[in-house]
Amino acid sequence: MQRTKVDVILGIQWGDEGKGKIVDVLAPKYDIVARFQGGPNAGHTIKFDGKTHVLHTIPSGIFHEGKVNVIGNGVLIDACIIREEIEGLRQAGVEPRERMKISDKAHLILPTHRLLDAALEQKKGSKKIGSTVKGIGPAYTDKVARCGLRMGDISVPAFAEKYAALKEEHLRQLRNLDFDLDAARIDGKTLAEYEQDWMAGIAELRHFEVLPTEIYLNRALDQGKTVLAEGAQGSLLDVDFGSYPFVTSSSTVTAGVCVGLGIPPSSIGKVYGVFKAYCTRVGSGPFPTELHDATGEELRRKGHEFGATTGRPRRTGWLDLPSLKYTLMVNGITDLVVMKADVMDEFDTLKVAVSYRLDGKEMEYYPNTEQAEKVEACYVEMPGWRSPMSQARQYGDLPENFRKYLDFVSRETGGKISVVSVGPDREETIFKD
Ligand code: GDP
Ligand code: IMO
Ligand code: MG
Repeated sequence: MQRTKVDVILGIQWGDEGKGKIVDVLAPKYDIVARFQGGPNAGHTIKFDGKTHVLHTIPSGIFHEGKVNVIGNGVLIDACIIREEIEGLRQAGVEPRERMKISDKAHLILPTHRLLDAALEQKKGSKKIGSTVKGIGPAYTDKVARCGLRMGDISVPAFAEKYAALKEEHLRQLRNLDFDLDAARIDGKTLAEYEQDWMAGIAELRHFEVLPTEIYLNRALDQGKTVLAEGAQGSLLDVDFGSYPFVTSSSTVTAGVCVGLGIPPSSIGKVYGVFKAYCTRVGSGPFPTELHDATGEELRRKGHEFGATTGRPRRTGWLDLPSLKYTLMVNGITDLVVMKADVMDEFDTLKVAVSYRLDGKEMEYYPNTEQAEKVEACYVEMPGWRSPMSQARQYGDLPENFRKYLDFVSRETGGKISVVSVGPDREETIFKD
């Protein structure tokens, strides 16, 4: 039996590219779907049978019977949020206990991690990152500082003691930050209320299979099973390659699959890079093609560009090819997946950034964060397609000007376009070959 490879789906812009939809669409072709990083800062939307579902921690393969969903060691779990997700799935007729396994090495987000996230953002003032305030930064900080709590800890007798010790340390840090603990609320709840729900979540998680998923996954590959790895956020929010410090705290790029699931680099197969036909970003940080005009507003309105996790309006702008070329390079993208071009169906013309200029000179390299704040994006203008595409089911059905747009993107980036999404529903998807 030949060992199989892990295919990867990740976002190659600033998140919210439509990864959840594509994982759900491709899941039937795989035995296992595994999330490899991030936590409930993610909001992955899936639409089918007229209903919309948003997942934060649970992998987007969960709606498919007979598939195993794995929460890998690289993921962060907030017991309170995952419990809500589990309950939402039950209401939709899905029992996650039967379909999901969790790594014993996945770290927990404590209620006090969320307070620390809020306190640290508050302290940054105008330099704030615009975090989702889900506790991501502080929980990954504790992981790297070697003092975090992991899923494997929830079944040991000393769990309550370990929890109390870490909470106490967090409270000490919060007092040092002059944080008003009495006034603090987490999703509208006091710390004590949130903690109670969090502990109920821990009790729920004890019913799941918690195991070294790296062993499970590697054995599955040895047995010829197929695995799809699901990323969260996007490459431009990567802790190393994103616009630091306006990034998330994990490796969102292909290399993150190896550490986030325990998969050797030689076992990586296809890498699907998901991108929108325009750009969005939530939170602070440079955005060279950002639009502050009526066109930006139109993209936000037609694309329903409001965060799936926080409801915040997303910043919008034109497609940025220099940044796509960069993320194609760091990820080794083999297949491009284009989303949401239907949002621009009525545009007469549209623009695509093909290079950046800094101080009057064309830039040879992808800019660092300071440069990215100052660069001027250079555009080519293209005619719109002025015809709706959501009914198209074959590549040849797509409007001609849109196909020309895709050829242009492909030529400029050197990437191969494999999948085109023409609407939010599962069915609204075209496979090129
Ligand atoms: P993710 O975080 O990458 O999974 O993406 P989000 O779920 O945060 O945001 C993508 C949004 O676009 C969701 O509201 C999807 O339902 C929607 N969506 C996905 N694909 C398409 C598409 O091709 N066209 C349109 N109009 N909406 C889409
Ligand atoms: P999905 O998986 C879009 C952004 C936040 C903020 C920065 C840091 O749905 O694509 P964090 O909470 O990680 O400390 O926030 O990253 N961010 C996202 N933006 N989509 C996401 O996830 C995001 N997760 C984090 O807005 O700018
Ligand atoms: Mg999202």
